Amino acid sequence: MCGIVGCTSRTGEVVPGLVESLKRLEYRGYDSSGIAAIGERGLGIVRRVGKIRELESELAVAPLTGSTAIGHTRWATHGSPTEANAHPHRVGKLVVVHNGIIENYLELREELTQRGARFQSETDTEVVAHLVQALWQGDLVAAVRSAVKRLHGSFALALLHEDAPDLIVAARRDSPLVIGVGEGAHWLASDVPALLPWTRRIIYLEDGDVAALRPERVDVTDAEGVARARAVAEITWSAEMAEKAGFPHFMLKEIHEQPATVSNALLGRIAENSGAIVLDGFALSDAELRSLRRICIVACGTSWHAGQVGRFLLEEDAGIPVEVDYASEMIHREPLLAKDDLLIAISQSGETADTRAALKKGREAGARTLVITNVAGSSMARDAAHVLLTYAGPEIGVASTKAFMGQLTVLALLALRLGAARGRLDQKTLARRLHELKTLPHALEQALALSDAAKDIAGELAAARDALYLGRGLNYPIALEGALKLKEISYIHAEGYPAGEMKHGPIALIDPSMPVIAIATESVTSALMSGNVEEARARGARVIGIVSTGEERLMKSCWRTLVVPRVPEALSPFVNIIPLQLLAYWTAVIRGSDVDQPRNLAKTVTVQ
Ligand code: F6R
Repeated sequence: MCGIVGCTSRTGEVVPGLVESLKRLEYRGYDSSGIAAIGERGLGIVRRVGKIRELESELAVAPLTGSTAIGHTRWATHGSPTEANAHPHRVGKLVVVHNGIIENYLELREELTQRGARFQSETDTEVVAHLVQALWQGDLVAAVRSAVKRLHGSFALALLHEDAPDLIVAARRDSPLVIGVGEGAHWLASDVPALLPWTRRIIYLEDGDVAALRPERVDVTDAEGVARARAVAEITWSAEMAEKAGFPHFMLKEIHEQPATVSNALLGRIAENSGAIVLDGFALSDAELRSLRRICIVACGTSWHAGQVGRFLLEEDAGIPVEVDYASEMIHREPLLAKDDLLIAISQSGETADTRAALKKGREAGARTLVITNVAGSSMARDAAHVLLTYAGPEIGVASTKAFMGQLTVLALLALRLGAARGRLDQKTLARRLHELKTLPHALEQALALSDAAKDIAGELAAARDALYLGRGLNYPIALEGALKLKEISYIHAEGYPAGEMKHGPIALIDPSMPVIAIATESVTSALMSGNVEEARARGARVIGIVSTGEERLMKSCWRTLVVPRVPEALSPFVNIIPLQLLAYWTAVIRGSDVDQPRNLAKTVTVQ
């Protein structure tokens, strides 16, 4: 997804810092980049297709200088990844960078063309530059305020004008944008990690905001010019936390952070004396929780898999019916939600366009709304009535790992909270279940020790063309998630299936070239799963079993095994996903793919 950066400073040269900030947005995925700066020689622009190192090489031969600049990484939506389509886009003395999609760009393009505009690119963004130029009467802020009223769709915008050399104008609607506050300097970015080397004092812009950044001050208004008060938040993440801490890839670092992820998500949420669950941000009373009729979970991708695990936990612990929908599907039908339904949107980023739209739909239908997210100031965190943060810290690897673990932990706590309020769990059971959750990080540490064994198996898996992942019950979503991890970073086709469905079709695919990854840890369905392993083996499959300590019989049936510690079945998804993440990671490394930024994928998907 595209990334925006900007800086205006009293003390001079900002371009090298912005290149650094752009690098910190690389995890979002991009195909071209560019920078525009206003210096002593006026407005200059450099744009390049490919990685930021291409931009740096160009800047080394044709340096760009200035104390006010904006930059961008583009992930193509309208028009292919070419230099002409890369941002910033220039019209006269004005430049613009943009994230999002201008839905009415064709109408605007036609209107502006009739008025004499000449377009240089295929992008929707360029209409913004021409529109602001057409409305400009010597005041960039006023022109942007008028322009945003004409735009349909989503946008985060940043603009410079050569006649206002110490000013950046920014605006947002449905696309994130944050301001970094410093001494004699202000920064702009689409995400906080880009700003961490420079400041930890952040203003989260909200939908409809138009901000004027100058070295000494920031003014935020709405499109009518009415001032909007925006608080400055202090970010506790260090710049180092957003870096790799000695691991070769962010993904591996984030896989290893998962014991801490569980601890952080539990921190302060279990009252020391009473043992009660305290979910700050989820303020429904016991009576309100008892009156809930149904829960609908909406999410995309990995977060949807967390939702599927959540369904088991919530139904089992709280005795409440749960539906789990792909957000992108739910928004195109009438979901029959009412005021005694709870809609839970799960999103690492809090910005995913489909999930945000589903949340809005639930809110409009009158349902109670809760978002489970990793990003405190995100759009969804502001849209929902209730918010539970996962506290996983910034997740940089595009393939989600620790954020998933944080989501599972929050869902487990939520299920217990509802179970207690609805009288399904007595005090003793609740205390035992909480104790099991608190000791989970230790089991995760043990599962992480499987890294070398997973690497060894990955040596064989790397040669496969397809792979089948099987699981049952709570671990069926883990089979889906394991398959997703493998396909998105190693590009091996992989499918997750409920093991009981194998006989109804996929078994036809099984031959000696097809690895079958069977999640066969201790469970009420263990006997059935053993049967499935035998069936696959009988057809020549190389079965890689995820098994619990002490299961010698299964170990003999499998080609290879990854042995995980025994935990109560409700917590098995937390443990079982770890060897699958490691298997995907090492397979991708062996195949030489770009683990942290897999092709065609973006970290934050802010378009539907
Ligand atoms: C896969 C992955 C994606 C995201 C999905 C939703 O590893 O990361 O499938 O889970 O794009 O993103 P969020 O959770 O930010 O809404």
